[in-house]
Amino acid sequence: MTKQSEFLDRMLSLGLARVSEAAALASAKLIGHGDEKAADQAAVDAMRTQLNMLDINGVIVIGEGERDEAPMLFIGEEVGTGNGPGVDIALDPLEGTTLTAKDMPNALTVIAMGPRGSMLHAPDVYMDKLAIGPGYPTDVVTLDMSPAERIAALAKAKGCEMTDITVCVLERPRHEDMIDELRTTGAAIRLITDGDVAGVMHCAEPEITGIDIYMGSGGAPEGVLAAAALKCMGGQMYGRLLFRNDDERGRAAKAGITDLDRIYSRDELVTKDVIFAATGVTDGSIVHGIKREPGYLTTETILMRSKTGSVRRMSYRIKTK
Ligand code: FBP
Repeated sequence: MTKQSEFLDRMLSLGLARVSEAAALASAKLIGHGDEKAADQAAVDAMRTQLNMLDINGVIVIGEGERDEAPMLFIGEEVGTGNGPGVDIALDPLEGTTLTAKDMPNALTVIAMGPRGSMLHAPDVYMDKLAIGPGYPTDVVTLDMSPAERIAALAKAKGCEMTDITVCVLERPRHEDMIDELRTTGAAIRLITDGDVAGVMHCAEPEITGIDIYMGSGGAPEGVLAAAALKCMGGQMYGRLLFRNDDERGRAAKAGITDLDRIYSRDELVTKDVIFAATGVTDGSIVHGIKREPGYLTTETILMRSKTGSVRRMSYRIKTK
């Protein structure tokens, strides 16, 4: 039984890489064309087509939105051939639609898959997020600490000055107070305009990305995807759902979430072993973006399994003519 499910995991992961590659390839012609919607649609169509070729009995738990908002890859949609293991799927066919439209760094296609019940069915609300890379004591930083306290605690654990820490934050008006407080610590702040899945993943490879810690609010679905990535790469993450109105609280109720103030750890966001694939659309520090040469497209995909902690980077070149 164990051997059989392990085998399926391993084989499925290669199929998952094809799914994220297909979405990236489809969006390639729309990089830098100023049309977020078209780029997203191309990625969604391709991801869905490729996903439906996999021998799985899949259900989308994090997708393009509720059934009445999204015609494809909506939450609850069944995908795959139906011949295979029952799996839950979290995906974002194009994480960073604006980044793609403007040809800015770190747009990715992202998908995670695990056994049924492996990932929090996060509603489409914001999540307060905090992430660090591997190698630190558990709970060295927490969501209950102030932003400055987190920098002090991390610097102490890393054995460096606060000025040696780099924190990644989404540049949003709602983060102005947090950024002001972070400035008082002397830490460097890497402001990103979009793409917090990549922002969180950057913490797992600080020697490459230069980022030690991620904090701030962004989409809750992206939070679950980021937790799936960190579960494979190593690192700690916390998330707390944020609700701005009754409609958002209603979304939580629909998703079966009753404790609205709960802080989820990485392993509460993603409770069982998962596989994760992301393909670069535009260049980033985690993976290269799509390379376009006359007659060819080349993608780079990061493919990971949390069970083994394996991290593969796969380059794929395809003829376009
Ligand atoms: P899209 O790809 O849907 O445009 O999302 C990009 C993103 O930056 C996410 O990475 C992030 O979680 C979210 O948007 C932040 O939301 P907001 O733009 O409302 O602050």
